[in-house]
This record gives sequence, structure tokens and C-alpha cells, in this order.
Amino acid sequence: ASTLGASAAEKGRYFGAAVSAGKLGDGAYTTILDREFNSVTPENEMKWSYTEPQQGSFSYGSADRIVNHARSQGKSVRGHTLLWHAQQPGWAQNMSGTALRNAMNNHVTQVATYYRGKIHSWDVVNEAFADGSGGGRRDSNLQRTGNDWIEVAFRLARAADPAAKLCYNDYNTDGVNAKSTGIYTMVRDFKARGVPIDCVGFQSHLTNSVPGDYQANLQRFADLGVDVQITELDIAGSNQASVYGTVTRACLAVTRCTGITVWGIRDTDSWRTGQNPLLFDGNGNKKAAYEAVLTAL
Ligand code: XIL
Repeated sequence: ASTLGASAAEKGRYFGAAVSAGKLGDGAYTTILDREFNSVTPENEMKWSYTEPQQGSFSYGSADRIVNHARSQGKSVRGHTLLWHAQQPGWAQNMSGTALRNAMNNHVTQVATYYRGKIHSWDVVNEAFADGSGGGRRDSNLQRTGNDWIEVAFRLARAADPAAKLCYNDYNTDGVNAKSTGIYTMVRDFKARGVPIDCVGFQSHLTNSVPGDYQANLQRFADLGVDVQITELDIAGSNQASVYGTVTRACLAVTRCTGITVWGIRDTDSWRTGQNPLLFDGNGNKKAAYEAVLTAL
């Protein structure tokens, strides 16, 4: 097929992009979005600071603009994200203990319930593991409410939206390393104890190379009985096109790798300012990286 989404669909996968509500009025942007992608992730609009800016007062306007656009175009939606240490509203940042835990749990239930039936996969928890050699949890206000916060969130999300695939999502997990192994151990434990987890997201914010064991790392998670998804792919550097091809082929080689999302559409849309890590240039032209992905699909 001649587009990313249609080619991925032929292989039983999706190909998505992160989208900003504020750009939906840009015709060049929506032309590419509507043509190329069959899954959409709100880049920011489902984060806690957006969806619950005041405690108990929920705000879905900008996320709904993305969801409605996607659905009207026949695209599915990835939910990102219910709980994360970053982009929390100020009121939550200032909370701790039981009050914070109750607020976290209410947030998960409310947002997942509001979007019930409209989300193919939820990043229930984002970036909860620490970088470095320890393999343990990241310190955060969320973690300080107790180590069980992640499994509690997954159980509440399942109850609120039984059809959504529930994912754990993180970065610097692209090869077998201490961080990815810490997550692997958590997922294995969740599966053993019946905690509802369906997928692991690999953000894959890369520069010039991908670990040689990328595919093997995806496969070891898949072998635990979860799907894997490439959730925030962007690749900086002169070797960009080649690495995009390698990542795409790795996903396709893993039966349970169900889809790829790039973190933006044009280079000028990227959060990595000046690094030009995406598939379309600022004028909306297809880059060599685009051709590498389409060829690999
Ligand atoms: C980024 C967005 O792209 C930016 O617009 C925002 O200012 C900060 O967050 N990991 C994630 C994403 O899970 O939510 C982040 O998105 C990029 C890193």
C-alpha cells in the first residue's frame, strides 16, 4: 500500500502519530495526518494537568477534539497517559500520602470511564522506573504513596474500560538493560498474580542507533504474554533513515508487536526542537526516513 497506515494494516498492525489539538486547524498538518496514519495519540491533552486541572473538575475539551477528529476519520486512539510523575496539575504535585493515592485512583477511574470504548490502548502508567543500573522504581510523589500504586492503577483502569488494552510505557528500555529488566520483572510478576496488564510500550526516542538486541528485547516481553508497541518513536541523527527501517522491521518480526506510533508528524511539530527526528520535513514533504519505513512495512 502507499501509506503508512494502510501498509501497516496489511500486516495486521497500526501506524500512528502523536497529535496536538492546537494543530488540527492547520490544513497541511491534517492532510498528512488523515492520509498516512490510522492511530492517533494525544501528545499532551490526556495528561493529568489537562484532564483534571482542578481537583475533581475534569476538562476533556482539547482531548475530545483529537478523539473526535480521529474517530470521524476512522482512526483509533491510544490513550496517553493516566499516571505520570510529570505534567501533573499543581494541586496533585502538592499532595502526598493517602490524599494523593485517593486522587490518583479517582483520576484513573474518571478518565478511563469517560473514554470507555474509545481507546484501543491506554498508557496506564508512564515512566515509573529509574534510569541507571539499579533497575528499580523512580522516586516520585506517586511512588511515595506505596509500591502497589501501579497494580492498583491497572486494576482500576480494567474495571473502568474492560475493552482497552492496558499498557505500561517507558523510555531507555530499547535494549536489554537494568531498567528494561526491572520492568520485565514487574510484568512477569503482574502476569503471575493476575494483575491486568496487556501491553508494554517502548517510547524509542532514539539518536542514530538502536541497540542490537532491540528485537530480542521486544520478544522477551512478548514471551511473557503481553503485546508490545512502539509508542513515541523519533530518531535524530544522520543515520536516521536506516534506523527507522531497522525499528520497523524489528516490530514486524515480533508477532505481538501490534503497532508503531511516531511522536509527531513534521519535524517542526517535534518536541525535540532542531533535531528533525520525524518522517516529514517542515514543508510536509516525505523524508528518506519515510521511504525507509514504507519499504520496511
Ligand atoms: C512531551 C510532549 O511531546 C511535549 O509537547 C511536552 O511539552 C512534554 O511532553 N515521554 C512521554 C511524552 O511520555 O508524554 C512526552 O511528550 C515525551 C517524553
